[in-house]
Amino acid sequence: MEERSKRTRKARAVPPQGRESDVKAPLTVPEVVTAKGQRRLVMVTATDEPSARWADRGGVDLILVGDSLAMAALGRPDTLSVTMEEMVHHTRAVAAGVTSSLLVADMPFGSYQTSTANAVHNACRLVAEGRARAVKLEGPRFAEVEAIVAAGIPVVGHLGLTPQSVHRFGGYRVQGRGVRDARRLIEQARGLAEAGAFLLVLEAMPASVGAAITRAVPIPTIGIGAGPACDGQVLVFADLVGLSDPPLPRFVRRYAQAGEMIRSAIAAFAEDVRAGRYPKEAECYTAPPGLARALSRRPRRR
Ligand code: KIV
Repeated sequence: MEERSKRTRKARAVPPQGRESDVKAPLTVPEVVTAKGQRRLVMVTATDEPSARWADRGGVDLILVGDSLAMAALGRPDTLSVTMEEMVHHTRAVAAGVTSSLLVADMPFGSYQTSTANAVHNACRLVAEGRARAVKLEGPRFAEVEAIVAAGIPVVGHLGLTPQSVHRFGGYRVQGRGVRDARRLIEQARGLAEAGAFLLVLEAMPASVGAAITRAVPIPTIGIGAGPACDGQVLVFADLVGLSDPPLPRFVRRYAQAGEMIRSAIAAFAEDVRAGRYPKEAECYTAPPGLARALSRRPRRR
């Protein structure tokens, strides 16, 4: 695989405050598609402006506002209760932090299962209100993918352990372990590509199945617990940087202990406050000479 290719840099007439004047143009859907077989794609999730800004600065290709924000940001036990309002709200916040990556938003449970018209309507909301450039939905939803693509919105498919179907699976179980199941996943992946999906997320399946799907489809695959042969990899931001608590899925690799860094920073602040070490003189605002003296005198009575 070639190293990540250099993308065009666009000079902005008026640079946004605090940003360098020549920022990268966001990666496009055609660029993602042509990356297959050329270079590996990198995706991470984000839930708000700071996580998006730091992920973007880290040089990822795609940022996903995953419905995993239910657990990562909202303290819920699963992804099923996330609403369209919440997804739009978080997508808009993430969009504010994205400069050079392609922003994809998850369609939450219930937003595309009831009718294709409803699926198109909700996909449009994520783009128009949330400022996403593409949407992702779970499972072999060929008609919905076709309808959303026909509306002009790029679609990412998601197969394997699709968390919105957790109750049908009877838990968060690895998918495609049997020959029949593996073949079914390969057929579903072909179907999604034919329906117009430009990218496929493959979650929690044997590495050999991830590899077979990657060979079988003309569009890139992004693995999360689907082995190294996928065309790219995705991790959830909180898992990657160390903000989530164990137990973690087998495929998670921690690249930082941000949670522990934050805990010890807060503990140090608390210690300084309690010991009277914070704030110091340099951390206080000064006043014109004489103000402190005047304030220490009693006000004159009239
Ligand atoms: O919601 C999410 O974070 C996802 C990833 C697992 C790809 O869909």
